[in-house]
Amino acid sequence: MKVARFSRIGFILAAAGSAVGLGNIWKFPYMTGENGGGAFVLIYLLTITLIGLSLFIAEVILGKEGRNDAVSTFETLAPRNKYIWKYSGFMIFTGVLILAFYTVVIGWIIKYVVSSVISLPTTVKEAGDAFGAMVTTDATSQFIYFNIAFFITIFIVTKGIKKGIEKVNLILMPMLILILLALFFYAITLDGFSEAVSFLFVPDWSKVTDTTILKAVGHAFFTLSLGMGTIMTYAASLPKESNVLRASASVALIDTAIALIAGLVIFSFLFNAGAEPSAGPGLVFISLPPVFADFGSLGNIFGVAFFVALGFAGITSAVSIVEPTILYLTSRFNYSRIKSLFIIGLLTYILGVMALLSNVKEYAQYVTFGGKGTFDILDFASSSVLLPLGGIVIAIFVGYVLPREKTYSMLKAYMNDTIFSLWYFSIRYLVPFAVLAVMINKIFF
Ligand code: TRP
Repeated sequence: MKVARFSRIGFILAAAGSAVGLGNIWKFPYMTGENGGGAFVLIYLLTITLIGLSLFIAEVILGKEGRNDAVSTFETLAPRNKYIWKYSGFMIFTGVLILAFYTVVIGWIIKYVVSSVISLPTTVKEAGDAFGAMVTTDATSQFIYFNIAFFITIFIVTKGIKKGIEKVNLILMPMLILILLALFFYAITLDGFSEAVSFLFVPDWSKVTDTTILKAVGHAFFTLSLGMGTIMTYAASLPKESNVLRASASVALIDTAIALIAGLVIFSFLFNAGAEPSAGPGLVFISLPPVFADFGSLGNIFGVAFFVALGFAGITSAVSIVEPTILYLTSRFNYSRIKSLFIIGLLTYILGVMALLSNVKEYAQYVTFGGKGTFDILDFASSSVLLPLGGIVIAIFVGYVLPREKTYSMLKAYMNDTIFSLWYFSIRYLVPFAVLAVMINKIFF
């Protein structure tokens, strides 16, 4: 299988584009709000470095070595137990499940871009009612915006790694960073800024429980796009001269920096208006718009800029969720890119519409199974079961199935022996146990 190669910056931007997503701008700030601010941030930084980055490096070396889809890479690198590895294909289909509800949320974001141009709600109550009404009653507009998000994503992926994914990331990632920085520099001038800084960086240990740590691990994992072969797939297109360690560290750094900047922006605006930090998943859709509305027409500009940035972050992640499946179908079944996309697209589309309808009162009963709506089932199955499982498989493969010398030879050009030993320890012990703990916690508690 011949895969196209990214340029060096193309790989970093595409991998960062995958990593920086709704997880950073939508989820990280509200998780921080709910879990005690600075203490959560500190734990999160630690888990990103110790667990996230280790697994990221593992996915990169596998992809680089295999230069193929994730399943074929496992098979070629461990020919003796080849028959087991075809089951790792479950990882590939995790992508379809994530993409289905992810595009629904991107649809909401696009709708918020449009509505921020026209008018912003002036009170939190009004904003909450509007968000609630959209999600639970307005199937039509959710369906329209879901279609827009879906077809943008599919269209980019039809163009392939170089002309589609790389090109879009080269444009959208710098724009996303510019918009966030512009909002950030404005946020610095607000009275709420210093409060935001202390909220994010001064730890309040009394709010930390054992589940806080597990949440941080789980999020470190999701935010770096680990556990379903996304990073392996992008790394299969890594340019030859890339430095694995430097590229991985850059991506983790960009991802973390953007989460922190988004957090500072959001909390500066919130505290400035005297609003609460722990607003849950509705934080950016409910708490933020009325805060922007206080600024008059400048607020509409903030609103549009913010939701455009969020939309860009979402789209560059969405394409990275599709690509592993495409590579899998094209390389193993010899399907054309279009045919593969058609199959994946059809599945995602059906699941996406079911997910969307499962939040709408009128239709929920048809797409609810065992008391849980399709939207929640997809979210739960992917982030609580399939992604952690994928992460454990990858860690076990690199830490136990591949011989140590082989792994060492893949990494020795980029790190000295001490760093290698630390990394190896993390892959063999820290990652599998931490991820297992997260999974057990999410499933049973
Ligand atoms: N990292 C993205 C975010 O933070 C989500 C994402 C994209 C993802 N690709 C993935 C998560 C692959 C897990 C696996 O929103």
